[in-house]
Amino acid sequence: MTIGIIGAGSMGAGIAQIAALSGDEVILLDQTILAVEKGLEGIKQSLDRLLSKQKISNLEHQEALQRILPTDDAQQLRSASLCIEAVFEDMAVKQSLFSDLEKIVPQDCIIATNTSSLSVTKLASCLRSPERFAGMHFFNPPALMPLVEIIPAAQTALAVTQNLLETATRWGKTAVVAKDTPGFIVNKVARPYYSEAIRMVEEGFATIEEIDEAMTSYGFKMGPFTLMDFIGHDVNFRVTESVWKGFFYDGRYKPSLLQQRLLDAGYLGKKTGRGFYIYDGTTIGELTDFSNEKKETIFWRIISMLVNEAADTVYMGVCSQEDLEKAVTLGVNYPKGLFAWGQELGMARIVENLDAMFLLYHEERYRVCPLLRTLAKL
Ligand SMILES: NC(=O)c1ccc[n+]([C@@H]2O[C@H](COP(=O)([O-])OP(=O)(O)OC[C@H]3O[C@@H](n4cnc5c(N)ncnc54)[C@H](O)[C@@H]3O)[C@@H](O)[C@H]2O)c1
Repeated sequence: MTIGIIGAGSMGAGIAQIAALSGDEVILLDQTILAVEKGLEGIKQSLDRLLSKQKISNLEHQEALQRILPTDDAQQLRSASLCIEAVFEDMAVKQSLFSDLEKIVPQDCIIATNTSSLSVTKLASCLRSPERFAGMHFFNPPALMPLVEIIPAAQTALAVTQNLLETATRWGKTAVVAKDTPGFIVNKVARPYYSEAIRMVEEGFATIEEIDEAMTSYGFKMGPFTLMDFIGHDVNFRVTESVWKGFFYDGRYKPSLLQQRLLDAGYLGKKTGRGFYIYDGTTIGELTDFSNEKKETIFWRIISMLVNEAADTVYMGVCSQEDLEKAVTLGVNYPKGLFAWGQELGMARIVENLDAMFLLYHEERYRVCPLLRTLAKL
């Protein structure tokens, strides 16, 4: 198969590497030769690492690189049977690119977008043949993250979704199907991990260190504040904001002022040396002993919100329960699927916990999903 990858940044280069390693011919396009060569250099370094860890052979390394054609000439895409777009996250930039692309690629070429927050349906609307278009959402870094979300637009043909599922599987990924809703699966379900944690700090109930410690002690690889600092507040805040706006300002996804102020100050997290934490060897606060009861309360507030969000995602038909469990374990590395975790802890107890918070706050964010109520009665 010949795959066109448009945009040789961190995502495009990673996707090109996966396709080439799987034996596909890749045309890697960027606006300038300099940009595409930078992307290619990244691929080479990544392949070098795989080689040194003996994950690939010398021959596989060589052949993968030979299969990638770097170019700044879009006409090269005329032989592609699948094009994946990974350019800047901007509706106008992407739509203008797709209109031009359709004039170059064959009539049966599938066009996919790696957008993480734009409406796939709206992107599709600028195409003359929107049925050939869908979302194919990889996670960062694509070469290592095993999950791919396939997002059919309202216009997408069934065969196109099927084809993308098969391609992702052939590339060694676990593919799940998500309805075209804000945040798709992972970026929607994960919101409370951050927002409920921030809420507890804003209320003065717990410190960032206590919350990180509580959540890692229950098996999460990173506490919410360490994770937000790692992702970067520019990225994390924007995802929250776009999910909130995308759901017509549903109070459940409301961004926080605390994180907004970090952005205002330019404290973007690890990459700028300061976010919630300071990365110069010192820390702002220190973890002092705190009670097990408090640790448990922190965990219960966050896990209840996550399980509720998972139930809502399935209830609203965004994906199947099975795909949701795959998405959270493979897309955000949660130690367990959220339905499995909820069952283990007791759905009834989770509902009780959320109802108690709703009673206290009278806020939308704590409303219980009808599916969760049903599950609690089983
Ligand atoms: N970085 C992530 O964590 C992540 C994860 C999932 C999805 N995404 C999505 O993937 C897409 C790309 O993200 P990224 O982080 O790789 O961005 P990036 O800024 O690293 O790379 C974008 C590349 O696209 C190129 N480009 C821009 N306009 C172009 C055009 N018209 N034709 C050809 N090339 C063009 C740029 O020169 C740049 O090299 C975005 O839609 C983003 O939302 C990003």
